[in-house]
Amino acid sequence: MRDAAQPIYLADYQPPAFLVEKVELTFKLAPTTTRVLSRIRFAPNPAAVPGQDLHLDGEGLRLIAASIDGTPLTATPDATGLTLEAASLPDAPFTFQAEVEIAPEGNTALEGLYMSNGMYCTQCEAEGFRKITYYPDRPDVMAPFRVRVESDLPVLLSNGNPVESGPGWAEWDDPHPKPSYLFALVAGDLRATTGHFTTMDGCDVTLNIWVRPGDEDKTAYALDALKRSMLWDEQVYGRVYDLDIFNIVAVDDFNMGAMENKGLNIFNSRCVLASAETATDGDFAAIERIIAHEYFHNWTGNRITCRDWFQLSLKEGLTVFRDQQFMGDMRSHAVKRIDDVLTLRARQFREDAGPLAHPVRPESYVEINNFYTATVYEKGAELIRMLRLLVGEDRYRAALDLYFERHDGQACTIEDWIAVFAEAAGRDLSQFKRWYEQAGTPKVTLLEHWEDGTLTLTLRQYSAPTPGQPLKEPLLIPVALGLVGPDGAELMPTQVLELDSPEQVFTFTDLPARPVVSALRGFSAPVVLEHAQSSAESNVLLGHDTDPFARFEAGRNLARHILHGMILDGAPPNPDYLNAMRLVLVDDRLDPAFRALVLRLPGEDELAQSLHAAGHTPNPDAIHAARRRALCLLAEALAPDLTRMVNAMATPGAYNPDARDAGRRALRLAAAGLLAHADGGTKARDIFAQADNMTEQFGAWCALLAVGAGSAESLQFHRQWQANRLVMDKWFGAQVAFAQPDLAPAVAEELTRHAGFDWKNPNRFRAVIGSLGAHPAGFHQSSGAGYRLVADWLIRLDTANPQAAARISTVFETWSRYDAERQALIRAELTRILDRPDCSRDMGEMVGRMLG
Ligand code: PHE
Ligand code: ZN
Repeated sequence: MRDAAQPIYLADYQPPAFLVEKVELTFKLAPTTTRVLSRIRFAPNPAAVPGQDLHLDGEGLRLIAASIDGTPLTATPDATGLTLEAASLPDAPFTFQAEVEIAPEGNTALEGLYMSNGMYCTQCEAEGFRKITYYPDRPDVMAPFRVRVESDLPVLLSNGNPVESGPGWAEWDDPHPKPSYLFALVAGDLRATTGHFTTMDGCDVTLNIWVRPGDEDKTAYALDALKRSMLWDEQVYGRVYDLDIFNIVAVDDFNMGAMENKGLNIFNSRCVLASAETATDGDFAAIERIIAHEYFHNWTGNRITCRDWFQLSLKEGLTVFRDQQFMGDMRSHAVKRIDDVLTLRARQFREDAGPLAHPVRPESYVEINNFYTATVYEKGAELIRMLRLLVGEDRYRAALDLYFERHDGQACTIEDWIAVFAEAAGRDLSQFKRWYEQAGTPKVTLLEHWEDGTLTLTLRQYSAPTPGQPLKEPLLIPVALGLVGPDGAELMPTQVLELDSPEQVFTFTDLPARPVVSALRGFSAPVVLEHAQSSAESNVLLGHDTDPFARFEAGRNLARHILHGMILDGAPPNPDYLNAMRLVLVDDRLDPAFRALVLRLPGEDELAQSLHAAGHTPNPDAIHAARRRALCLLAEALAPDLTRMVNAMATPGAYNPDARDAGRRALRLAAAGLLAHADGGTKARDIFAQADNMTEQFGAWCALLAVGAGSAESLQFHRQWQANRLVMDKWFGAQVAFAQPDLAPAVAEELTRHAGFDWKNPNRFRAVIGSLGAHPAGFHQSSGAGYRLVADWLIRLDTANPQAAARISTVFETWSRYDAERQALIRAELTRILDRPDCSRDMGEMVGRMLG
């Protein structure tokens, strides 16, 4: 009933006309002729407006037969499904039965039921279930499912608990009512690594990680991460697992990272499989995080789900926040927070500053798949972090207890979420709710005035217009702030100032000397802070602040300031900065992982973003060249210390992926990478040659590529790893990511002609085309070659996998930052993508929004 390009509005929400009491499905699997038999028990929804038709979503299904209470159906489906007219329906519960045929083999969109390397699997979030059978495919219709799978393949899985099986069939029962987007089915020749977990209620849960034969040696870390996640959710949130079995399956062809289907999580193999030899420390950390994330969804997402897709952040923002807490507990809170802020700025601030900006809870969409964004996920998590800061930890826990108690088994809204906080904290949070409704990154300006022992701070907030939102209301912004003495001693511990108007003044009296203001400690709100500080003040904070994020930020501010100077007028970095970096590098009291982060210069895209925000037109070549020069100067100034660090940070003994060793390797590789700008890569070459783990092998190879060396290593890397799909993604990606800017489009183009470039595999496509889009100086070559290549491939991918193509199209979202020539080139490519008769709904919406 929906027109392909017609937006859906939050304001139009209507409760479902009918609820589902029970679903029974039988799958007779065959590559091109899978039969799906369904028996669905419907009951009129007492909460609905009476007399409405029942719409069953269905797309690309061949209807064989359908009936209601045994009477054959006369209605015929249209392109969106089957509409059963109110007048023809009983007003008591009834059973709808259907048989449909689908062709998983030809399903290249990887949504619905599809095949990957001979295995069947499903992806139903957000609206994939309608490609499997006719159903009210909306999250507020929740039902228990019973599923029978028939196939000759040895392993047949679905949601819930196994009930019975025999040769060629298996039956599963999921007693927990769930929306269709959490349905899953897997069939294949798979091997399990099995473990057990005993819940705090004493129940034994069987844990399986299912992989293709040959990958069993890469499952141990994921299984361990799963057990730790289960324990953590019991200890921190009191959440207990609720089935006898928890299955995880790895698939090679998957659009996203992973999916939280009830009792049967399906993972992109890159987010599960890891061994010392094939995965980097970063991969291990990502696996730990994503395993936890999907597991945590069992409560925040599955037991309590979303009423409609506008509420997506209700489950995603909360689950990201929970996985961030978990990772902080497992590793280091300081390093995790800095990492998260870097990601937020790189992805979400970028999104918020461009034509794709949207609120954490959007008000309309054309294709919901386009709203699995950094704003819904990462900014959504920041909003929860702010709520916790505002109400305090104890009340945060009380609010969550209330949420679970009140809403278990329901499909909820952001209003429900805010209400539990308002109640638990006894406070009106209506102003806070604007964070969910207003797009854009607020700018907070801090002005200092010092007189006679009194410090007066004037805080102002401003939110620029975003698409569809010309005017903004003031937000409730928690600004965590401390005062530091000129000698580095803490003068005033952190206070949370609540900025709730356009301008507010705060005074601090009886101060012995003018303090250094440490503002936005812990990055207490997702804002851009404008606070003029001298480099002497930044140095005090970098050296002494009690808040690790503030220390990091002070170093970052110095680096950004220096890089802006180098880019805009070739000013050399001042010696104070080089010295400050040396002090951090050699300070053995500091966590190596933290030191590695401080040493990392702001990236080229971040610099383009900050230059643009400061009123300049960023030049990608100039940014690249200046950053490169800064790396050389830093390398020359610190060379002896860097060499010492490379040696000191070696991790003797067997590879251990834990935070301690990973931090040492991070600093070692950061030092070697920097040093390569002075020694031509001698140290990096040594590390590569001696590496017994992927972190060092790959890290050292990247360090070489970054200085234009490493061709022998590229050959060796290829020779060694050509049979490993995930490692080959690294091989493809790094060559593009580190290509000399003027050669990057040609390097990527060459790789698309490589026999291993399987463009229908989303990981491989991303490794080449996504990496070019993420290489600012290469992508934005003034010839337009980068734009052209990416557009050509997006057009190709759009016909096979619209969802993946639309996601990658965001490489163009920053077009309006650049000069008129580049803008014209990009707009021409976007227009070329859009002006095709077969442009998908996904891509049409994205490009349409980008063109404005
Ligand atoms: N819900 C998944 C997650 O965040 C993401 C996802 C969305 C996966 C849509 C597939 C399709 O964990
Ligand atoms: Zn999620």
